[in-house]
Amino acid sequence: MHMLLKSLSSLLPCRKLILPLVLATFVLSGTVYAAPDQVTNIFKPLSTPAESVYQAALLTMAVCGVIFLIVGGLLAYTTIRFRRRAADDGLEPPQIYGSNQIELAWTVLPVLIVFVLILVTSRTIADVQNKPAASDSLKVTVVGHQWWWEIRYPDLGIVTANEIHVPVSDATKPRQTFLRLESADVAHSFWVPQLAGKTDLIPNRVNKMWIEPKQVGTYLGNCAEYCGTQHARMLLRVIVHEPDDFARWAAEQQQNGAEDPQVKAGRDVFFSTSCLNCHTISGTSARGRFGPDLTHLMSRDTLASGAAPNTPEKLRAWVRDPQAIKDGSLMPNMQLTEQELDQLVSYLLTLK
Ligand code: CUA
Repeated sequence: MHMLLKSLSSLLPCRKLILPLVLATFVLSGTVYAAPDQVTNIFKPLSTPAESVYQAALLTMAVCGVIFLIVGGLLAYTTIRFRRRAADDGLEPPQIYGSNQIELAWTVLPVLIVFVLILVTSRTIADVQNKPAASDSLKVTVVGHQWWWEIRYPDLGIVTANEIHVPVSDATKPRQTFLRLESADVAHSFWVPQLAGKTDLIPNRVNKMWIEPKQVGTYLGNCAEYCGTQHARMLLRVIVHEPDDFARWAAEQQQNGAEDPQVKAGRDVFFSTSCLNCHTISGTSARGRFGPDLTHLMSRDTLASGAAPNTPEKLRAWVRDPQAIKDGSLMPNMQLTEQELDQLVSYLLTLK
């Protein structure tokens, strides 16, 4: 061990650099993780369930921190105070066997601490899980697929993918969104750290959770349960609007897919290939549910569940060869010619 440390420290130009380097790493990682809207931050909850989890976590960390300081402090003190000295006689120190008081103390105290933590945790879980849905709360069904999210609003007749739009909740008019979580294939897990804890999406089972975002904006999330090759690119965003903006978004989403005569050629490509077996465009004969609903494809920020930004160039690249952007994606390469690709993409771009 001593040799290892020695060889490690010889790798650094100067031992005095170790501490500044460690500190710089901490500071840098802090600034990286603090980037707004890009990286989610579990220490900045912005929704009631996330706040409850955060409070319970803070208490647990504080209790564990105090225990760590006491145990670590005693250990450090003992190691230094009773270290081997030059004047030692080399004999064993006096041997002491047992102390009822001390043993009782270190049995009863941890039991009490664990009991308090259990009470706080069960209370938090009960608060979050047993929340009854208010009659005016928004209801959204989320279906996990390999590797994207199907989002349905049963009361509003809206179907979309990978983005959940919800109204903001304020103190005068709280508005919660209740999510019904299902899976079309394997186990996934819904996690938007600033809104709530993780909840699994299990095949043949319905799980429930709710969110109550208190700030307008975009919240990033991801699948938190390994679900196959592209688990890491099963990203998710929750977009929180002022009530008026939400109503406007919902009204737009309720429209049928655009029918622009100028892009008839591209429409013909879509309806003459097997695109329509997997995708829905409302108001047309395309009613597939295996892939994302495309009725308002261009209203979304990303393609392929966050694998690429939803730009015309990326959309073309995606249709041309989905595997090049998301290896393992279940969308096949349709082997379209360059001309067909141009036509199809110009049709898709009209689906706003
Ligand atoms: Cu879906 Cu991991």
